Amino acid sequence: MSISKGHILGISDLSAEDIIQVLKTAESMKVVSTRNVKKVPTLKGITVVNLFFEPSTRTRASFEIAEKRLSADVLNLSLNQSSVQKGETLLDTIRNLKSMGASIIVIRHPMSGAPWLLAKEIDCSIINAGDGSHEHPSQALIDLFTVKEIKKNIEGLNVVIVGDILHSRVARSNIWGFNKLGANVSVVGPPTVIPEDITQLNVKKYYCIEDSLDGADVIIMLRIQRERQNRNLFPSMREYSKFYGLTKERLDLAKDDAIVMHPGPINRGIELSSEIADNARSVILEQVSNGIAVRMAMLYHVAQSRAGN
Ligand code: CP
Repeated sequence: MSISKGHILGISDLSAEDIIQVLKTAESMKVVSTRNVKKVPTLKGITVVNLFFEPSTRTRASFEIAEKRLSADVLNLSLNQSSVQKGETLLDTIRNLKSMGASIIVIRHPMSGAPWLLAKEIDCSIINAGDGSHEHPSQALIDLFTVKEIKKNIEGLNVVIVGDILHSRVARSNIWGFNKLGANVSVVGPPTVIPEDITQLNVKKYYCIEDSLDGADVIIMLRIQRERQNRNLFPSMREYSKFYGLTKERLDLAKDDAIVMHPGPINRGIELSSEIADNARSVILEQVSNGIAVRMAMLYHVAQSRAGN
């Protein structure tokens, strides 16, 4: 279990109890964000480095806000500012940051598994902010928190994940997370982006979006990741949108109180129409604001575990 070792690497490593604990702590952290003084001393004296080797708006900004609300000393580094550009290895970069007193490293890296390597080799706490096509644990915890807040209970919900499952770290982390908390998870998309063996992760597989949405409580739309596709996996964005984009007519196939989620950034008119993105049943901006409380909770548990509590 990675939290007990002072890391949050992936949802695959967490037990249902770990996840429930983080979600419970996030509820308290959300209260902090409603106060006039949105700050607590939890990470006072602790240096946290945000090391992003891929672009990010939401994850990077909300980790930084979360760290500052917990009173940490925060350092932000990205690929074009670091000496990795000059040939330094990732391990040497982290060793140098540790020598400057960094205790917690929040890392986004294009190589799947990079956070696990660092956790094994370096005596710093590692939080995975997205590794290649593998895991995005903070996004899944946000999604679980947001669904729990709205639906009260996750067990028994029908969760449908739509889009490029093959390249999506959000899909993988959400499959593990929602399964661990007892939801029924389905995936749907073009056959070229649905891994053949995905059913081994205890999910139902569909190729027709209309079939998948019948009875859905939660619809998670995924971004089409053009940057991770090294070959054309579907003929055109227009065709993708025609067969898999979420429209009002398709949303009507789900339950009346179904909610629509998206990790962002959204491609309006491709994964979902503007009518849906801005619809009352879309909780996309709630996901973003919950990101701060959930990331505060993750940092809290990692720091507690690091301190031996
Ligand atoms: N959801 C998400 O990871 O967004 P960013 O890439 O903007 O961090």
